[in-house]
Amino acid sequence: KPCRAVIAMAGSGKNGTKDSITKLVSDLNSAKLETDVDVVVAPPFVYLDQVNATLTDRIEVSAQNSWIGKGGAFTGEISVEQLKDIGCKWVILGHSERRHVIGEDDQFIGKKAAYALNEGLGVIACIGELLEEREAGKTFDVCFQQLKSFADVVPSWDNIVIAYEPVWAIGTGKVATPQQAQEVHVAVRDWLKKNVSEEVASKTRIIYGGSVNGSNCVELAKQEDIDGFLVGGASLKGPEFATIVNSVI
Ligand code: G3P
Repeated sequence: KPCRAVIAMAGSGKNGTKDSITKLVSDLNSAKLETDVDVVVAPPFVYLDQVNATLTDRIEVSAQNSWIGKGGAFTGEISVEQLKDIGCKWVILGHSERRHVIGEDDQFIGKKAAYALNEGLGVIACIGELLEEREAGKTFDVCFQQLKSFADVVPSWDNIVIAYEPVWAIGTGKVATPQQAQEVHVAVRDWLKKNVSEEVASKTRIIYGGSVNGSNCVELAKQEDIDGFLVGGASLKGPEFATIVNSVI
């Protein structure tokens, strides 16, 4: 593997209460996690401060979204400056739900990524095709277009993790096979080699997301170009999340 892995957990808007998050943090604080795996958790905004204040320093905290530029009169939005203020180190951008439910486009997501990176946050940049795009043979075209929209604007690749999440696998229980995932991951790495640099291609961590759980993580993690996971549902159970973290070595 070219580099250490990142595991991110993203609870969606419906996940989490103060009590359930207290329990999850306590499970994570006592979990035995492989030292060579970078672990990041991404709770909903309203719990970020609680998580950051109570979670072990071993695990970093991420937001699930951020505003496009400098904070100001944008009611309801959360700025990068505010995220940094509460100790957040990462932000997930371009998640499929932001793209396909909320309607964010490549250009908007790219601008958010550039701003967050310039301000010193790490970015977990999500890409991935819809089922109809896969069935129409457009998986690579879609992923490369989304990648390009990041590549066109980001100031550097030092602080970016790419998350490949086929939309048809998110929250469906229908995980990509290790071969399907590896095929896209290696294509993403080749794209980076050709379009950014060989160094960025070998250093950038490309993680897989979409119905990852404690049973399928080992086979996925064995693939040469899968450097970790973006975990949704299975991250809500502390012990299972720890199993997934420890599969990435
Ligand atoms: O944000 C993580 C998500 O996209 C994957 O969710 O539940 O399929 O692991 P899940």
